[in-house]
Amino acid sequence: MEQTSHSPQPTPESIMQIGMGFWASKTLLSAVKFELFTKLAAKAAQSASEIKSALGLKCSDRHLFDFLDTLTTFGFLQRAGLLETAKYSNSPNTDLFLDKEKPSYLGGILEMANNRLYGFWGSLEEALISGEAQNEIKNGADNPFGELYKSPEKLREFVNAMGGIQVGNFMAFAQKFDFSAYKTLADIGGAGAILSIMVAKHQPHMQCQSFDLPPVEPIAKGNIAHFELQKRVQAVSGNFFEDALPKADILTMGNILHDWDEKKKVELMKKVYDSLPENGAFVAIENVIDEERKHNAFGLMMSLNMLIETGHGFDYTYSDFNKWASAVGFRKTALIPLAGPASACVAYK
Ligand SMILES: C[S@@+](CC[C@H](N)C(=O)[O-])C[C@H]1O[C@@H](n2cnc3c(N)ncnc32)[C@H](O)[C@@H]1O
Repeated sequence: MEQTSHSPQPTPESIMQIGMGFWASKTLLSAVKFELFTKLAAKAAQSASEIKSALGLKCSDRHLFDFLDTLTTFGFLQRAGLLETAKYSNSPNTDLFLDKEKPSYLGGILEMANNRLYGFWGSLEEALISGEAQNEIKNGADNPFGELYKSPEKLREFVNAMGGIQVGNFMAFAQKFDFSAYKTLADIGGAGAILSIMVAKHQPHMQCQSFDLPPVEPIAKGNIAHFELQKRVQAVSGNFFEDALPKADILTMGNILHDWDEKKKVELMKKVYDSLPENGAFVAIENVIDEERKHNAFGLMMSLNMLIETGHGFDYTYSDFNKWASAVGFRKTALIPLAGPASACVAYK
């Protein structure tokens, strides 16, 4: 008998879920902004009215329950009881990752998403139509970092956000990469020095430097002191386009190449190649897009985020990386999957 192939019935589920996804996103981002998870972590389970006064909310109790129960539905809060009798507490995930008092806090990226990106992404259509950045540089300046770093609060928020989004990847890199042939590492555009700190923690023979623009140095130094790694990690200031790069066996760049257009990406890789010793290694840690361009949605959206943030920057595939690595002279490359959508692209001199 002839077999008929049944293609799955079309359903509107994912269309509605993603189309209305900003409701869910903003509910979580608001809870982070209110420091709800930090406040709950410090106390026994709280009633809605205790949370209402701790957060200083003036909405109706109905809407307060709706807000807290939406977070419960998503698994961000746990609840015993209902409405007036309910007691709310953090879920294990939010307690570990969204309590500001814990070193595992990764809400920095969500704080920045709420305070900056949420609004800027409202102009995605304009970015696609014009090809122009939609952030602080929308009306003139061409260097996003210069504009961002004029405000100490935005600088700190940005640097903390970078740490939050990358710490899992840096930890995985520090454990998965074979450091046995190397002694020194310099992280170019190292922001809060989190990559250097993770490598120093997991690889006791490594000496690290974190190189970034001068306003970033005090934040990096603070983090290094916090981890008591001053003897093995240094924060140094410089401009990677204008100054010589630090000398080290390994040069790393986390989410740096994606900030720039192809010409500047290759210029930076050539500068890295020239600075490395023979047998040195270059490592780019980014949300590398899969070759078929149909699996790594986060990497693809990160590239759109670069349109919003820089206008010209974009994320790329391992094939793209290989093309640039071979053009500047590297002899071989490797790809190491890290946490979630990120990978390390390695190029050996
Ligand atoms: C997208 S962030 C990435 C930070 C970090 N590497 C990470 O993976 O989270 C880009 C970093 O490059 C730094 N940066 C931008 N332009 C620079 C320049 N010309 N010289 C040195 N650092 C620069 C910024 O200050 C920022 O810390």
